[in-house]
Amino acid sequence: MIQRLRHLTSLEHLNGACIERLLDRAITMRDACAYGTRKLDLLAGRTILNLFFEPSTRTRTSFELAARRLGADVINFDIGFSSTTKGEELFDTLHTLEAMHLDAIIVRHKQSGTPEELVRHAMSGVAVINAGDGNRAHPTQGLLDALTIRQHRPDFENLVVTICGDVKHSRVARSDVHMLTALGAKEVRLCGPAELMPAQEEFPRCRLYHDFDAAIAGADVAIMLRLQKERMAVVELPDEAAYFQHYGLDARRLATAAKGCLVMHPGPINRGIEIASEVADGAQSRILEQVGNGVFVRMAVLAEVMGR
Ligand code: NCD
Repeated sequence: MIQRLRHLTSLEHLNGACIERLLDRAITMRDACAYGTRKLDLLAGRTILNLFFEPSTRTRTSFELAARRLGADVINFDIGFSSTTKGEELFDTLHTLEAMHLDAIIVRHKQSGTPEELVRHAMSGVAVINAGDGNRAHPTQGLLDALTIRQHRPDFENLVVTICGDVKHSRVARSDVHMLTALGAKEVRLCGPAELMPAQEEFPRCRLYHDFDAAIAGADVAIMLRLQKERMAVVELPDEAAYFQHYGLDARRLATAAKGCLVMHPGPINRGIEIASEVADGAQSRILEQVGNGVFVRMAVLAEVMGR
């Protein structure tokens, strides 16, 4: 069944066909704007608000670029200079901004579930897109990861994907697992130290590992995750040198993965902690390609939720 999206808060309820359609649309966007050199006018006259309550480099910039390439006006709400610092409630901020007339809100918030809360409180006709909420979901990252994988390995049914690092605090891991499941990946392995791993019940279809050498063996895709210290209790933090020794992706470990294994990371990367520079900058790294794909995927999502 074709699902048309009014909002994008998570990938949980998107089937494979819907994800494929968004990826196809991202490719159309890429081709239509000739790799970003030309602007389209699909969203001319529309106003989009970037509402980021957490820091961001890639996601915020690429949403802004995506919106501008579609001809929309973008407002970047800078939390550090806003009335939120004076104690304004989230929904008062929302209604204040809405009164200026908005078509879409892109939100990032440390509290899981904030995008759904905004959907419930937003004026009808305003689309809400999740740019990352707590450790729960980061749907456009899941989509851009899907696009990056599909460009190299469209045969999802044969793919073994290893996601390694701070899985417990990772919204990227959760959205990637939904995406990989919907697209029919053969096997998804999650790996990390016990204190940074979720419970098996949360991921019934994934194989959980604590031994990275075992988890990376034969993998077609390796998605590395940052230690998300901002979401950790102090005691959880492993010693970084020991962490790299056990869970860092270096050339030796990459050599044990399947030939041509794609190396991915949502960024920001921490060199020498979860990934060695030789791998991050190596021939198999798709990290910058992920960033580039992020703009096209976000163009597709913006056009979709605004009904264009
Ligand atoms: C991720 C995020 O914010 O969830 N980054 C991103 O959006 N590219 C991952 C992270 O911060 O480690």
